[in-house]
Amino acid sequence: MVEISTSILSVKKEEAIQTFYDIETAKTDYFHIDVMDGKFVNKNTNELMLEYCDYLSNITNLPLDVHLMVEDVPNFIEEYAIYKPNIITFHYEATKNEDELKKWIQQIKEKNIRVGISIKPNTKVEEILKILPYIHVVLIMTVEPGEGGQELIPETIEKIRKLKEYIYQNDLEVDIEADGGINKENVAEIKQAGCDIIVAGTSIINSKNYSETIATLSL
Ligand code: DX5
Ligand code: ZN
Repeated sequence: MVEISTSILSVKKEEAIQTFYDIETAKTDYFHIDVMDGKFVNKNTNELMLEYCDYLSNITNLPLDVHLMVEDVPNFIEEYAIYKPNIITFHYEATKNEDELKKWIQQIKEKNIRVGISIKPNTKVEEILKILPYIHVVLIMTVEPGEGGQELIPETIEKIRKLKEYIYQNDLEVDIEADGGINKENVAEIKQAGCDIIVAGTSIINSKNYSETIATLSL
């Protein structure tokens, strides 16, 4: 069984509190927080996501899974760490060199938060293999970051398979998370490839019955 991290990016503000209750009742494992800065990607969702984190901190004990699609990673780590998320993920492509990468990993670890590194569809798994012993999660983007509701890029599934094999061969303890365009139709293949945490936004939020959708995605 895989874990489900529900992306709240497409949740409407007027319905936010009720929707968060409903997602929790439907047994999501995490709330996935998509933070965009208007630089690393075009959209800027920071204000909305901070507001949603405030709501969530008042109404739920479920873990938060923060996905930073930003350039200025250290400042955003500080801004979101106050919500005590379970995972903070930043993008490998946002780092200039290995020193910076290690510094940011350390910054998250010092706060007792699990560290995730994300790679975009065109970044090869090979580029991040040597940092695997220092992190907890690899988030494989199955769409280009920047927007919910896109279609999954099929070639990204092979990256999950490759990474899983490497983690197994090297006896590492790293979870694989897949994010973007995942729905009831394509989830089986993602799971077979070895994914541990599935992010789903619109396929849950646009469904009539959250419980049924989450159960189908996770089983
Ligand atoms: C894309 C985000 C994803 C995405 C998930 O930039 O990181 O989390 O919004 O939404 P769906 O499941 O609709 O692709
Ligand atoms: Zn995301």
